[in-house]
Amino acid sequence: MIELFRGDITRLEVDAIVNAANETLRGGGGVDGAIHRAAGPDLLAECRTLGGCPTGEARITGGYRLPARHVIHTVGPVWREAGTEDALLAACYRNCFALAREHGLGSIAFPAISTGVYGFPADRAAGIAVAGAQAHGAGFARIVFACFDEATEALYRRELSA
Ligand code: AR6
Repeated sequence: MIELFRGDITRLEVDAIVNAANETLRGGGGVDGAIHRAAGPDLLAECRTLGGCPTGEARITGGYRLPARHVIHTVGPVWREAGTEDALLAACYRNCFALAREHGLGSIAFPAISTGVYGFPADRAAGIAVAGAQAHGAGFARIVFACFDEATEALYRRELSA
């Protein structure tokens, strides 16, 4: 039920794609920018009604022009040094699965949260992502890890075979 997909998460036809957002939920660069561009301006309008999202938590919106029905916005931790960041990143995955489950969703796709602008080490993040899916993903028909590049995909493949 765990799949790897190499490429742009905005192309996936799933019940929800996860956005690696920031606490304002007002859009940004990276995957956040790509999701807002592909979904169109109505996504930002809905995000503005949510009042932001603390790090480690998650919020759900519609998917608008995306092939995905919903976007689950979560805010990963900014990497400083090994400290509380692991627990916050794990909370992102846990809370995304919980929200998806509450809404009766059966398929969900995640980007590599926090590993771009937020600087979280990609290998460490892949371990937390896979552990999160194994701990909280029971019952989901599809859990997709969208890997933007080959190096990221290799890290997930290693975690899945461990
Ligand atoms: N599809 C899949 N993965 C992608 C895509 C895409 N279209 N574009 C980038 N990635 P980042 P963060 C990968 O920086 O580190 C934003 O400005 C990328 O290669 O998007 O959580 C927000 O507003 C990397 O592996 O998210 C926040 O301010 C991963 O997605 C801040 O950046 C995450 O990189 C969040 O930083």
